[in-house]
Amino acid sequence: IQKKPAAAPLLAWYDRHHRDLPWRISPAMAARGVTPDPYHIWLSEVMLQQTTVAAVKAYFAKFVGLWPTVGDLAAAPSEDVMVAWAGLGYYARARNLKKCAEAVASVYGGRFPDTEEGLKALPGIGDYTAAAVAAIAFNRPAAVMDGNVERVISRLFAIDAPLPGSKPQMKTRVAAMTPQDRPGDFAQAMMDLGATICTPKRPACALCPFNDVCIALATDDPERFPVKAAK
Ligand code: ADE
Repeated sequence: IQKKPAAAPLLAWYDRHHRDLPWRISPAMAARGVTPDPYHIWLSEVMLQQTTVAAVKAYFAKFVGLWPTVGDLAAAPSEDVMVAWAGLGYYARARNLKKCAEAVASVYGGRFPDTEEGLKALPGIGDYTAAAVAAIAFNRPAAVMDGNVERVISRLFAIDAPLPGSKPQMKTRVAAMTPQDRPGDFAQAMMDLGATICTPKRPACALCPFNDVCIALATDDPERFPVKAAK
């Protein structure tokens, strides 16, 4: 029988090994009551959707330099936003970014809604971004799933059903593990674990806070997961 994977060891790992990212509030700062700027979290999550952390850093700095608030971004000429976005690719994201900023500025007075549902109603905000912003910016217990989290979860529970069909069962697993007290750090910890330890090839299982509960590690080859549907 599998020992139930708990959030506590992951959060302890995150306290020590979290990545310092320009938009991120460290666990130590958060413990002192510093809260993230929802605009920064939203902007970084939109940029990170098809782009690596390394590439996003400079663009994030450029955007918050040019437009320090979501209201500033809403008021900016579209051409300027597109020029600043150049190089990040997927230009529909930039158009949606601008539309979303305008909605937040005009409908919500420049303050992002603080629930997953409210966020999802905004232009260009889908399931992933709504959950990520709700969890990270507002500490709501939303289940955040991206490719990194799918890899961690599929290994932890040795999920044999292939992606994308297995997504709902993975989301249920993430929701069950998400702690009420630090849901934002939990989401970021899962993503950091997937990016730095539970990597697609040659995962560093010896360093993983889940290595005592991971079914793939105990019974199988972790690299076999996540299973993907044949093309
Ligand atoms: N990739 C996408 N969003 C991320 C986040 N908040 N932390 C780490 N990696 C991410």
